[in-house]
Amino acid sequence: MKKLIIGNFKMNTKPSEFKHYAMTLATKTKDTKNDVVVCPPFTHLYVAKEFLTGSKVEFGAQNINENESGAYTGEVSASMVKDLGASYVILGHSERRSKFKESDRTINKKVKTALANGLKVVLCVGENLVTRTNKEASAFVKKQLDDVLKGIYENELDSVVIAYEPIWAVGTGKVATIKDIQSMISMIRKEIENLYSAKASEKITIVYGGSVTIQNYKKIVASADGVLIGGACLNVDDFAIICRDNY
Ligand code: PGA
Repeated sequence: MKKLIIGNFKMNTKPSEFKHYAMTLATKTKDTKNDVVVCPPFTHLYVAKEFLTGSKVEFGAQNINENESGAYTGEVSASMVKDLGASYVILGHSERRSKFKESDRTINKKVKTALANGLKVVLCVGENLVTRTNKEASAFVKKQLDDVLKGIYENELDSVVIAYEPIWAVGTGKVATIKDIQSMISMIRKEIENLYSAKASEKITIVYGGSVTIQNYKKIVASADGVLIGGACLNVDDFAIICRDNY
């Protein structure tokens, strides 16, 4: 089955290093049946455009500002990344939420801006360890979904991928159990049905993220529509193996 494999570089590598990465990944994934997306830093998007256009690998940004343009020194807009050929943007990542204090309200605005500019959104949700230990993970993620999807129409969901990323699993080496991944993904699907329709719930792509590696990806991919990979995507050989696999 075709899966969606997304790489999130976070704030790693230099644009000059990304040229080799992009060329290698493009070559190694030319026969893949999966959908492959890499999200390097903004500074690398020009390189991505040059070396990934025409390949199987799509690319995206890791953030955008919620405003269309204007006096926002240091920020980058949806139309700017779209103009460089990006097709995706990651929004609501737990590092943006915790380190840059992004609220569900801000993320909701960003989702609307991204969709209005023709970008597909990888929308991250997930609970922290205390919430999980208190057995409140489902209720917490449900509320996140309700808030970040407010005002998003059902037809726009075709451009939204949900990434279930438990915060305690992101960059920690700790992975959620397959049982938890499956139950959280089915809960998310159920909530999409509540918010939209059974059809929308069936169609939506839901990936898992959080310490996915070359060692553990097989079982995880089998339980989701794909994976969002941080640290482990930096090794292009490993990432290409995950992208090329038959699921
Ligand atoms: P990780 O990061 O794979 O390094 O845990 C996941 C992510 O940032 O989405």
